[in-house]
Amino acid sequence: MLRTSSVKTVNLGLIGLGTVGSGVVKVLQKNSASIEKRTGIRLVLKRVAVRSLSKKRAVRVSRKLLTRHPEDILGDPSIDVVIELIGGIHPAREIIETALRNGKQVVTANKALLAEQGEPIFGLADRCRKKLGFEASVCGGIPIIKALKEGLASNQISHVLGIVNGTCNYILTGMSQEGISFGAALKAAQTQGYAEQNPHLDVDGIDSAHKLAILARLGFRSRVPFRKIHVEGIRSLSIIDIEYAKDLGYGVKLLAIGKDTSHGMELRVHPTMLPLDHPLSSVKGVYNAVFVHADQAGDLLFYGKGAGMFPTASAVLSDIVDIAKRIAGQADLKSPRPVKLADKKVLPIAEIVSKYYLRFQVEDKPGVLGTLARTLGKHHISILSVHQKESHDPRSVPVIILTYEAREKNILKALRTIHRDGVVQEKTVMVRVEQ
Ligand code: HSE
Repeated sequence: MLRTSSVKTVNLGLIGLGTVGSGVVKVLQKNSASIEKRTGIRLVLKRVAVRSLSKKRAVRVSRKLLTRHPEDILGDPSIDVVIELIGGIHPAREIIETALRNGKQVVTANKALLAEQGEPIFGLADRCRKKLGFEASVCGGIPIIKALKEGLASNQISHVLGIVNGTCNYILTGMSQEGISFGAALKAAQTQGYAEQNPHLDVDGIDSAHKLAILARLGFRSRVPFRKIHVEGIRSLSIIDIEYAKDLGYGVKLLAIGKDTSHGMELRVHPTMLPLDHPLSSVKGVYNAVFVHADQAGDLLFYGKGAGMFPTASAVLSDIVDIAKRIAGQADLKSPRPVKLADKKVLPIAEIVSKYYLRFQVEDKPGVLGTLARTLGKHHISILSVHQKESHDPRSVPVIILTYEAREKNILKALRTIHRDGVVQEKTVMVRVEQ
């Protein structure tokens, strides 16, 4: 048992008391005594900045702690750690920067800000020699940031493949298991409280791209220009292709894919077909998982809850405890020198090489299959398998072709030629396939 005299107090200022902020307060209320017992550090919540003082909250917080002014926290010299949980770009960026300039350590869950405008903020933290914890920005309760930064410090990481958006995974799981449409699955996600009323950031892949930017920066030790990430969401996926994929032994996931190749980094978010026995195929519902290939440790899979009050609060607390230990002198607060990052090239999507699922809607008559195969062959695309579904309407039957690895620009050229020649009845569906 530690004597009180040996206990070090670390004062916290929380900005934002939404779902995650309330979770942080609840975890502090429940577990700070045990944290103190283990670490000799007393975490004290000194102030909480909120937009409305009268709003009903998911957690009880003394009225005395509440303020409507973040400056009351940023300007309070007794506060050691500022926890930014308001999200969005502004005023979150100004809050974090002021906190760093005022000598505070900072913890944030703000993936959009770090992905889109992270470099100046990381640079400022380095110059101020302050810690900026962001474990909660990617995959909630999964400690993937610490794993990439510390656990795999001696490795070269070549692949980071993630199911990093629980809402999309919930929708795709519903479509696959219950055979419901995207719209119906989205409605179910909204009813369950997983998807926002405006689900744009989730279903259009932006949230996954934010997380990929953060993971790739750490994994590949390179700056990542967010706008160069290729992003496609799941809105246009049809139940037909999910069913056909299943028949062929594949599942469809929204994957965030980062690959560090000798030609540059591949950074892309899009619906992807994965063999049903791939470890990521068994990740269902709102769960997240990140598959990492590291040269020394080999293949790793990190799995867990990527969102929600307590998983995300767990990640915030992990940074708080880490920083508090450093403040208490149990570890050095200052890194010897800022981490040096490369500026690796990002490969344009046209240059990637992948396997492809192609669904052509064609007229059921002699020679059509031959025309498709010939055009693909002319564009250096080798066919892995061909599947034709019986149809009651000979004017439009689905022909599914799986290809061997091909360059995307060749696939696109071939599809343009096939369309131009009037071989197909509607736009061909193309889904990239990972092994
Ligand atoms: N909206 C995200 C998801 C959670 O559905 O996974 C927060 O990152």
